[in-house]
Amino acid sequence: MKKIAVVGTGYVGLVTGVCLSDIGHDVTCVDIDEQKVEKMKKGISPIYEPGLDELMKKNIKNGRLHFTTSHKEAFKDAEVIYIAVGTPQKEDGSADLQFVEQAAKDIAENIERDGVVVVTKSTVPVGTNDKVRTWIKQHLKKDIHFDVVSNPEFLREGSAIYDTFHGDRIVIGADNERAASIIEEVNKPFGIPIFKTDIHSAEMIKYASNAFLATKISFINEIANICEKVGANIEDVAYGMGLDTRIGPQFLRAGIGYGGSCFPKDTKALVQIAGDVDHKFDLLEAVINVNNKQQVKLVEKARNRFGSLQGKKVALLGLAFKPNTDDMREAASIVIAKELVKDGAFVVAYDPIAMENAKCVIDDEIMYANSIEEALRDADIAMIVTEWDEIKNLPLDTFVRFMKTPVVFDGRNCYALEEVAKHNVEYHSIGRESILRNVVSI
Ligand code: UDX
Repeated sequence: MKKIAVVGTGYVGLVTGVCLSDIGHDVTCVDIDEQKVEKMKKGISPIYEPGLDELMKKNIKNGRLHFTTSHKEAFKDAEVIYIAVGTPQKEDGSADLQFVEQAAKDIAENIERDGVVVVTKSTVPVGTNDKVRTWIKQHLKKDIHFDVVSNPEFLREGSAIYDTFHGDRIVIGADNERAASIIEEVNKPFGIPIFKTDIHSAEMIKYASNAFLATKISFINEIANICEKVGANIEDVAYGMGLDTRIGPQFLRAGIGYGGSCFPKDTKALVQIAGDVDHKFDLLEAVINVNNKQQVKLVEKARNRFGSLQGKKVALLGLAFKPNTDDMREAASIVIAKELVKDGAFVVAYDPIAMENAKCVIDDEIMYANSIEEALRDADIAMIVTEWDEIKNLPLDTFVRFMKTPVVFDGRNCYALEEVAKHNVEYHSIGRESILRNVVSI
């Protein structure tokens, strides 16, 4: 059992801290936001993540999980300190490291134990751990030995707890065996394969992994766009491709592109990192461009179908960037809503969880409904943006019952075409033939 401190209780920090306490470590999470800390002390998570509240309450109760606003209290006898603060995107696409630098200063000013290992969990450009070391050295009050380790996270929102206990690998980047083996020991109870490497390679693994997954998504979306034109079915094409173990079936779901807190930010940051060393990352730039176009695909399809969207009532189903999260960061719904409003459409949106967050980021000119049925009532068009269970399990006759004209643009291929064919619904999806019915006259 180790004494651990985690700086930053955002998504990554909180999940990391809670899971480390669950495998037996004594963990103190530190955050400057007093209100947030008070809530967390009661076992209330500030983010929506399935299973997180329960795990927080369990480990607070058994005395292994603590929250504080005091860096001194958190760091003074910590053996390992995780930096998990945000690295927002700057205007030029590069990562803003001001919170990492502040964390390094706070660590330097408060550590008291010799041999403490400082672990960077935040996604940071190659070379940042060297900077963290320098920043800590510059502000150290006493002559204390410390090490810096890179330990990137690969969690998916909505299944972060599951991923922490069932991940494919844990990457540890260190410049000495002592530090690497301390972090290896910390992580051993997870029972996940551990890969040890140097610090710069560990930092790069994180960016390269996210960029590769984003590439898979943009690739399959481009194939989908071609499928529509040549009369092929993307679901079968992706399945057939995925049977090749060299390709694999994952991240081949065509749709309206990737969003969220990682892929958009990390792909842009990697283009920037490459640019800084005079390498133009053409492939990744194309991946980003394809994604930008894909996010507005449904609007483009609706424009082609109707000519003008002026005055049309559009039900927007799902707002979060993906199901099982309330996260609206870089969600396709934001650009879709904006485009629809620009075209003069009347937008009524529904999301099971993300509606409050959506209200902060989506155009003021849209309305919100309390249920799918309310959003669909008298609508001319329905757009499926996020494949929440509630949305993808919606019986198709609901569209017929509630809409003025049941024309559905499905950005997540929620329905089998054979099923749609049994209903009087006009249905457009991604990478598959459209099912046209005589339900609307243009
Ligand atoms: C991702 C990575 O998976 C994770 O390893 C990393 O640590 C953070 O970024 P996350 O953003 O939570 O996790 O979600 P993920 O489930 O990977 O989906 C990202 C986006 O890609 C979503 O918008 C999703 O809808 C989209 N996606 C995913 C597709 O469009 N098609 C797919 O086949 C898979």
